[in-house]
Formats: sequence, structure tokens, C-alpha cells
Amino acid sequence: MNDKELFEAVMRVRENAYCEYSGFSVGSALIDDKGNLHVGCNVENSAYPEGTCAEAGAIASMVASGGRKIMTIAVAGGHDALENCTPCGGCRQKIAEFANKDTRILVMNAEHEIDEYRIADLLPHLFHLEH
Ligand code: THU
Repeated sequence: MNDKELFEAVMRVRENAYCEYSGFSVGSALIDDKGNLHVGCNVENSAYPEGTCAEAGAIASMVASGGRKIMTIAVAGGHDALENCTPCGGCRQKIAEFANKDTRILVMNAEHEIDEYRIADLLPHLFHLEH
């Protein structure tokens, strides 16, 4: 699956975002180490802190199906049109858990260009337990 197809999956799942409170819908799609696609959207809650991010949904789906490494993860979001939506701090840590230095983190920006990062760009000096 190429990046264009990955972002088509992002846009499709973004349509299902449950974002009654912020009005900011986010989609995420990832390819894991088995070559499988997983998608997620944000799921908000009237008890605000209980809401979950799109990336968390995609990562949970990957782990539940046995995937353990993110090869590429793509994210896009905005109130309606796309806005800046690089992963939040919590999602950076969640991605880091299943990333390596080569994991591609792709964000479609407001101009619909794809910005590409590595986890070291987004979360330098990250916390990681050796196991
Ligand atoms: N959100 C995500 O889904 N992913 C991010 O990385 C940034 C923020 C969601 C959380 C909340 O539902 C909405 O965007 C506004 O913050």
C-alpha cells in the first residue's frame, strides 16, 4: 500500500470520528510488521478526559490482531478542512512504544502536503524501558 492509499484510509475513517465536543475529527491509519492495515478515529466522551485519539485506536487494533511494530503511521485532522494535526504528546509516546528509528510518521498538513517524521523528530530523548 502506498502513501496515497494509506491517506485514503485515513480520510475514510476520519468520517467516522466521534467528536461531538471539539468538532475536530481525526483519522489515523497504520501498516504493521505483518503488512496489515489498521485504522482509528478519535472517540470523544462527555467526561472529556475519557476521550481517545485516532492514533490510539489504530494502535489498539494493531496490538489486538498480533501486530507489534509500526512500519508507517499516517494522521490527518481538522475541524472540517485539514489543519495542523501532528500527533499529540500522549500519542507520540504511544507510537514510540511500537516504533523503531525507521518508522515513518506521516501527517497531511493544511495544504494537503505530506510531512514525514521519525519518532526522534517528534519525541527526542524518549522514555523507553529496556526489556
Ligand atoms: N486528537 C487526535 O485524535 N489525535 C491527535 O494526535 C491530536 C488530537 C483528537 C483528540 C480530540 O478528540 C480532538 O482531536 C481535539 O483535540
